[in-house]
Amino acid sequence: MKINRKHWLIITIICLSVIILGACGGDEEADANSGAAKKTFKIGLITDPSHMWTKAAEKFKEEIEKRSEGEMTLEVFPSGQLGNESAMLQQIESGSLDFGFITAVELSSREKAFSAWFAPYLFETIMDAQEASDTDVAKEMLGTLDKYGLLGLDYLFAGQRVMLFKDKKVQGPEDMEGMVLRVTPGPPMLEFYEFTGASTEGMPLTEVYSAAQMGVIDGMDMDLDATITNKYFEVVNYAAVTNHMVWPSVAVVNKDTFESLSEEEQKIIKKSLEIASDYAVKTRSSKEEEFRQTLKDKGMTVYELDKNVFTKQIQKFDEKYKQQGELIKKFITKFRN
Ligand code: BEZ
Repeated sequence: MKINRKHWLIITIICLSVIILGACGGDEEADANSGAAKKTFKIGLITDPSHMWTKAAEKFKEEIEKRSEGEMTLEVFPSGQLGNESAMLQQIESGSLDFGFITAVELSSREKAFSAWFAPYLFETIMDAQEASDTDVAKEMLGTLDKYGLLGLDYLFAGQRVMLFKDKKVQGPEDMEGMVLRVTPGPPMLEFYEFTGASTEGMPLTEVYSAAQMGVIDGMDMDLDATITNKYFEVVNYAAVTNHMVWPSVAVVNKDTFESLSEEEQKIIKKSLEIASDYAVKTRSSKEEEFRQTLKDKGMTVYELDKNVFTKQIQKFDEKYKQQGELIKKFITKFRN
């Protein structure tokens, strides 16, 4: 067959189509390879990888990635890699960090309302505290973060607070008088211990191990989780399982970042967080006995201390804090039996 001008035109069109289609396919691949459509978020935490909150952050990541079919991803930075909680909070405010699980006690230094969570012996179990976190008053507290350009999306609970002592099996406040006890920096926790007559040392988690090892402190306020993950059983001998306070963190996000997302993406984040928070509280509740046994196996004397020995301190706390704001008063009144 003789190839005429018409044939050349058809051949040229076919070739051009193949080239254009090929190029389009390449672009799609390039898009997929560059991940241009994906949104990557970062979350920072103070806790070690084996702590319940870090596990909850991993669950949060897993759920976000699954529910968005890979369109949203989350990078988890545990162990204070991004700085202490106050530094992380500033990063979230400026937008250089997207999310953080920040302890409610850290937030209480900014917004007094969060102090209400630390009313001693307000909740018997962490499941009770989890239920309380779903009430209007608890949500109103989250709303106080708005003015900082932050959104408090939800609460997460680790184990309740216990008291660890280096050399003495403390039986009540009278044994604590004059002792130097490490407390997480934050007015409500420090004040509870001051009511016992102890001297308090506000100290971030990262400094606690060496302070106990060097004898700078005689004991500490802690949870069983971190007693294990941070190996405090190596430097203290007695664990009084008081369960005197619950231990919430708040899932905080930069407000602009969150509001720039589509409604569907916001829903995915909220749902993923709800699942992570539920996972944390249920898993942690089921571990109470195992944690106590682990510490006994490590050589600690683990014992219970009755709530009644702290009656005076509970009263003093309630009296003082109920005067510090309507939300605190409302919260304590609602949950104090
Ligand atoms: C603490 O300051 O005691 C603490 C902080 C985060 C997780 C566990 C404990």
